[in-house]
Amino acid sequence: MPELARRMGRAKQSAIMLVAERARQLKAQGRDIISFSIGVPNFLPGEHVYAAAREALAADSGQYGSNRGTDALLDAFLAHLDRAGLTGYRRANCATGIGAKHVLFNLCEALLEEGDGFAFATPYWTTYADIGALLGAAVRLLPCPPGQDYKLVPAQLEAALAARPKVFLFNNPSNPTGMVYTREEIAALAEVIARHPDTWVITDDIYHRMVFDGVGYHNFLHVRPELRDRVIFVDSLSKTYGMPGWRVGFMAGPEPVAAALTALNSTHVTNVPEVVTAAAIAALSGPQDVPAEKCAEFQQRRDRVLDALAQIPGLVCPRPQGAFYAFPDVSIAFGRTHAPTGLRIDDDVDLCNALLEAKGLACVPGSAFGEPRALRISYTCPAPQLEPGLQRFREFFAELA
Ligand SMILES: Cc1ncc(COP(=O)(O)O)c(C=O)c1O
Repeated sequence: MPELARRMGRAKQSAIMLVAERARQLKAQGRDIISFSIGVPNFLPGEHVYAAAREALAADSGQYGSNRGTDALLDAFLAHLDRAGLTGYRRANCATGIGAKHVLFNLCEALLEEGDGFAFATPYWTTYADIGALLGAAVRLLPCPPGQDYKLVPAQLEAALAARPKVFLFNNPSNPTGMVYTREEIAALAEVIARHPDTWVITDDIYHRMVFDGVGYHNFLHVRPELRDRVIFVDSLSKTYGMPGWRVGFMAGPEPVAAALTALNSTHVTNVPEVVTAAAIAALSGPQDVPAEKCAEFQQRRDRVLDALAQIPGLVCPRPQGAFYAFPDVSIAFGRTHAPTGLRIDDDVDLCNALLEAKGLACVPGSAFGEPRALRISYTCPAPQLEPGLQRFREFFAELA
């Protein structure tokens, strides 16, 4: 058989999907599984979204659509940007994609030559590293340990940008840590960015409608609008509107970048489908009470998770203030054995395997996000499973010898 392209040796299936798949298999075998693994919202969009989709289906043109996104979709996104305090954009600054993942991939493809520097903080969303590897970028990880609340500090960014990476990718609120940067923190990082004009900055802010404790959402552009010529904002319907399967992502940034994404769309996917476009417009333009309600609910769940984790002696979990993840440092379990099953735990992968085997609880090992001392809890499971899942987690740690 002829060989695959060399770059495919660097492509791998998302580690998060692999855990979710293993949990699904066990469930299919009849095991009682609670999944804290995959980061999907536990709600569906409002009826107005389905109504718009049905209406579009009834009037379907059956045709190809716009590579950039229809004017109506771009206008709905522009209004959404306005509400987020990101003003002054026009359609030519925007482009759509098949989810933020696709938009991020396209952005990296558009901005990075092979070997170019690509900097982002650790812990990172797994896909960033996968995209960097696939494109042959020189990934530069900026370690943000639990001791600094998993957040980048200005001196660290200064050192990283001094090496003139082509792209700095920033994620706020963070998957996997749930960390949210305050306005002061964003302002301090923006000041560093302003001193390094050779680097593109991508802000992946797809969780920006899920911020707790009144911290608020802040972007570099809020504090330094003049960075507009090289900061690219990425958003998605997936988490905010409970629409991960609809696959709609967006970017707003300099016109040449949006034009590059439009060109890539014309090569890869052509367009966001018509019915999906109608649903997306309805989500962005319709009543916004679902995202607001969900944010309040997730804040309550975050509190439950932190209460449960606080009951485990020695376990440290920097306080998440957004998204729907907690990322405790679980290294106290390493070198120990789960007494009832005899399962030995040497690292985060052993720990997650043992949790799944012994307690039927699926979490994602921190190494999938570049931080092997931790694991990720996604707390969007069905409501009745949250307490039992946390109970299983606590029991497991109590049973370590
Ligand atoms: C930080 C972050 N960015 C982007 C995405 C991709 O979202 P989408 O469903 O729009 O592709 C995710 C999904 O989990 C994410 O957590």
